[in-house]
Amino acid sequence: MKKIEIKIPGKDYPVYIGVNTFDSLDKLIRSKKIFRNLFLVVDRNVMNVHREDVNRFTSNFSGKVFIHEYDASEPAKNFVSLLRIFDDLIVKEFSRDTLVIAIGGGITGDIAGFAAATFMRGVKFIQVATTLLAAVDSSVGGKTGINFNDTKNIIGAIYQPEFVLIDTEFLKTLPEEEIICGIGEVVKYAFLTDQKFFITLKNNLPKLLKLDSAFTSKIIETCISFKGDVVAEDEKEDGLRKILNLGHTFAHAIEIEQNHIIKHGQAVTVGLVCALDLSRRIGLLDEKLFGEYIKLPLLLKDKITLKVFDSARIYEIMKRDKKGRNHKIKFVLLQDVGNVLIDVEVDQDEVMQSIQQGMNYFI
Ligand SMILES: NC(=O)c1ccc[n+]([C@@H]2O[C@H](COP(=O)([O-])OP(=O)(O)OC[C@H]3O[C@@H](n4cnc5c(N)ncnc54)[C@H](O)[C@@H]3O)[C@@H](O)[C@H]2O)c1
Repeated sequence: MKKIEIKIPGKDYPVYIGVNTFDSLDKLIRSKKIFRNLFLVVDRNVMNVHREDVNRFTSNFSGKVFIHEYDASEPAKNFVSLLRIFDDLIVKEFSRDTLVIAIGGGITGDIAGFAAATFMRGVKFIQVATTLLAAVDSSVGGKTGINFNDTKNIIGAIYQPEFVLIDTEFLKTLPEEEIICGIGEVVKYAFLTDQKFFITLKNNLPKLLKLDSAFTSKIIETCISFKGDVVAEDEKEDGLRKILNLGHTFAHAIEIEQNHIIKHGQAVTVGLVCALDLSRRIGLLDEKLFGEYIKLPLLLKDKITLKVFDSARIYEIMKRDKKGRNHKIKFVLLQDVGNVLIDVEVDQDEVMQSIQQGMNYFI
């Protein structure tokens, strides 16, 4: 089992990655002396396919254990679902000694983490990441929260877990669509990290699609280490952490405008294409590099299909995004691999053209 330390000042924690790591979950909890009454928020789809594992885990505890099954979806990452979690916590008389354990993807991690952050002003929390997207990205960094009406992640808290556990065996039950979603975030890291990782990913994408165990673990480790370093330097997203939003300003708006017919990770791929186009359009990214870079997200082109879209509406949603201040949208754009600019303001016309151009690849 590989261990990566996330070194956030005063809140450092490990991420465990490997095959069958879930079998060690109870030992890890005991060894860290965070053995408490357990409140599990488990994605219902995960429960359906990994029920035996979850039950084996809970049977090892003598304290109070409650499993809250959650139907994870973007529209259900909302107040109603959060209230149901609070309702179970309160009705079942959980108190300050509760350990909340999220078992699921990014949606389950975000909502359960927010419940843990706010229940009794904060109880301890662990994430077991069961999607590729959660394994490479969302489980680390402490962003928790829910959507409100049409705005993504507008209510939330930064709240770090005690530890994160990734069992690559759990990923094997993922539908292909969800693997594609995870790859969307991995492609983002390929642009953020370095040329070596970029080329490795470009040349070996089919291995990741097949979830080749050794290759997948390596990819997860690279992404998590990179994100960990960024978050350790800028936990509250005052500066550096913004680079992790590459492609996301477009992606969040596209998800909403497309009525969630595409998922977050797929929207990230489309958003990255729009961001590359915008970087080129304003002269930040050289034409030749653009031609080379765009090939990577476009390897996923046949796996993502958009419906007819309205670029003006996407622009309006972006303006409303929480990253926009005074109605000015701030973009994260790319100069070359490993070299991004944050807080870039761009004329509306050029943004609209990049939305049009970027999304057209996926129609
Ligand atoms: N907190 C952060 O830093 C951060 C970062 C990136 C994304 N996010 C959020 O993450 C969310 C997307 O996460 P996601 O892509 O993991 O989606 P998700 O949590 O909805 O999971 C995707 C689907 O896979 C199913 N599933 C999960 N694990 C499975 C398994 N092992 N086997 C079979 N099915 C399984 C789920 O039921 C769901 O239908 C978005 O809401 C996004 O905003 C958060």
